[in-house]
Amino acid sequence: MRAVSCPRSAALKAPRIRQTAETLAKQARAEGWDYEAYLAAVLSEEVTARDSHGGENRVRFARFPQVKTLDDFDFAFQRSVKCDEVMHLAQLDFLREKKNVIFLGPPGTGKTHLSIALAVQAARLGYRVQFATAQGWVTRLAKAKKQGRLDEELEKLGRIPLLIVDEVGYIPFDPEAASLFFALVSSRYERSSLIVSSNKTFSSWAEIFGDPVAVAALVDRLVHHAEVIVMRGEGYRLKGEGKELLEGEGRN
Ligand SMILES: Nc1ncnc2c1ncn2[C@@H]1O[C@H](COP(=O)(O)OP(=O)(O)OP(=O)(O)O)[C@@H](O)[C@H]1O
Ligand SMILES: [Mg+2]
Repeated sequence: MRAVSCPRSAALKAPRIRQTAETLAKQARAEGWDYEAYLAAVLSEEVTARDSHGGENRVRFARFPQVKTLDDFDFAFQRSVKCDEVMHLAQLDFLREKKNVIFLGPPGTGKTHLSIALAVQAARLGYRVQFATAQGWVTRLAKAKKQGRLDEELEKLGRIPLLIVDEVGYIPFDPEAASLFFALVSSRYERSSLIVSSNKTFSSWAEIFGDPVAVAALVDRLVHHAEVIVMRGEGYRLKGEGKELLEGEGRN
């Protein structure tokens, strides 16, 4: 049998089976399923996933700025992220376990790309997902609060298994925004997942939110059950237009 590898082209040739077979096998072993039951479960996940209509609707519902996929991501360029680790996340155990994924790193290193790619994967596999920037979520919650329906809005969002919160820290929050953001994170704690990305380290989040005590509580909830992926290196945006600016670090 061929070892599972992670080059780009091989990564998603049979994406759903690759992603569900292992997870379901674990469940099958734990629950003593027979071979038929296991096979039926794997095939049924595949059939559900192939309901491309539903998948495409969910991708539309997500309001991604652009659709990105794991297949489009060049792991040879972004060497600080392990392909295997990302492919493992793409199996979506984190979603089933109500955990978070956090991407931290400088501009252009692929945080938004990977956030969207994981969420597209989730949408295609049947989960509702929704994308907005941190500012976008706060604006939405501020509007709900003004209309006296903040709790209702948080509950509604809580029924969406995965929210992507992009660009935390690009614009500092005033105290009202910080408290709405905290409400969002704490309402989902251990109940539903977030994928968060930021170009600031957690230690600089106090400046964004203004209140170190609230930030400690926020980060505590975010990372308690989370995969934190720290991206490094040059931004991909410079790759085409400014190759001369990048001093070759062994990249092709
Ligand atoms: N390793 C990569 N392989 C292929 N495309 C990439 C890679 N890294 C980034 N890109 C592309 O480069 C552009 C910038 O990436 P992305 O938006 O994900 O960066 P970011 O880390 O979110 O940056 P910012 O902090 O500025 O928001 C996107 O078009 C993305 O698809
Ligand atoms: Mg981004």
